Amino acid sequence: MQLELTTEKVKADIEVILVNKKIKENKTILENLGFKGEDEQTALLAESKKLYIGCSELDSESIKIAYSNAIKTLRPTKFKKIAINAKENLKEIVEGLILGDYSFDVYKSEKPKEVEKEVFLVTDKIKQEDMLDFEEVNAVCNAVNMARDIVNTPPEDFYPETMAKKAKEIAKENNLGCKIYDERYLQKNNMGAMLAVARASRHKPRLIHLSHKPKSAKKKIVLVGKGLTYDSGGLSLKPSDFMVGMKMDKAGGVAVLAIMDAVAKLNLPIEVHGIVGAVENMIGGDAYKPDDVLYARNGKTIEVKNTDAEGRLVLADCLCYVQEEIKDIDCIMDFATLTGACVVGVGEYTNGIMGNNTTLNNKIVKSALKSGEEAAVLPFNRYLKKLIKSDVADICNIASSRYGGAITAGLFLEAFIEKKYKQKWSHIDIAGPAFANAPWAYNAKGGTGAGVRMTVEFIKSQI
Ligand code: BES
Ligand code: ZN
Ligand code: ZN
Repeated sequence: MQLELTTEKVKADIEVILVNKKIKENKTILENLGFKGEDEQTALLAESKKLYIGCSELDSESIKIAYSNAIKTLRPTKFKKIAINAKENLKEIVEGLILGDYSFDVYKSEKPKEVEKEVFLVTDKIKQEDMLDFEEVNAVCNAVNMARDIVNTPPEDFYPETMAKKAKEIAKENNLGCKIYDERYLQKNNMGAMLAVARASRHKPRLIHLSHKPKSAKKKIVLVGKGLTYDSGGLSLKPSDFMVGMKMDKAGGVAVLAIMDAVAKLNLPIEVHGIVGAVENMIGGDAYKPDDVLYARNGKTIEVKNTDAEGRLVLADCLCYVQEEIKDIDCIMDFATLTGACVVGVGEYTNGIMGNNTTLNNKIVKSALKSGEEAAVLPFNRYLKKLIKSDVADICNIASSRYGGAITAGLFLEAFIEKKYKQKWSHIDIAGPAFANAPWAYNAKGGTGAGVRMTVEFIKSQI
């Protein structure tokens, strides 16, 4: 699909018309078709060269969903030139189109034969602001689609080394700083928690560090992502039904890569670092075990009681790395498909935000909602904190109670945050929204790119 912003009258094959409940033209035909201008409704009147799309409320999300339905309806058709009135809601229209047009058919031997669409966004005059909006939405949504592609890629074709290769490509394309560390570095720097998770896999771990350092940066933000390219559960093996889909356990790390791509493309005046712990959690004679005690990079000892609570182990070492290696950070955010409990707690569409700083947590929720992502704060408390105490080590990797699992996982990470950063860190559990089990709004089934739009919005709010 090609998008073009234009003031010219275009001779289109089809025109898309948004109807907000009140039908103004072709009334009888549309009514006969049962089209009422409501959400999710579309009516293609090929002879009049018009596609009507319904939208019950004219809020941002409904508009995005309506245009996403438009492109989905038109994709299999032969119409090539599409005209859309974009005098209003340009950003929403573009977002709905780019996100709605996504499909993943890399592994289909027969690709759908589709006509490449040329979409003309017609307006009266193009202000500089419109052009900037247009470019920004393009950059962010293309980053989201990149994240979706990676999340959807099978684990045999996307493992830690592949993740590092992808990071290098993103860095090269955008002029980002890029450091890739392998097992030797992890050993030398006592990153025993991350190493233990990685040990049983034939795919060796990678620690990825991308950086965007504009000259007059106003702030320094550090993003850390859980990049489990596959989570079998390890020796605490997942039941078959729960293992399916665990290629998505890299979604936090992938979101970090995609955010770095967007931040660079928008050249935001903020120093942003993106760190990914890329690891595969497998079984085997060399696997780490329940009962093991691991040494994290900062010297803290961790009793392992469940090898399926591996994300927090990888993140613990990555968090130690950033606090040691990056100076004077203003904000640390980590992204992880960390717990099934978060999905149980807030549902599959919502990101769980945790941390000690209520103001920061609330700001992140606000940015998420503004960007079109769902988010809710899950509150820490001292009683849940006690549940991750260990008899033999400094901390245990699972809680002693089955309740509050999303929060106890967040509290585990909190234990690896130094005093000076306690108020500057938030944890984002994206386990629910990172992967759609069925088509949802403008998301196809599969990876969604959760975390990307909300974080770009948050970083923009820090300028
Ligand atoms: N990657 C999973 C969490 C997950 C579950 C993400 C479902 C997406 C969908 C994580 O590593 C995990 O297995 N967590 C365990 C923690 C438990 C052992 C304390 C969980 O949620 O069951
Ligand atoms: Zn796990
Ligand atoms: Zn996991």
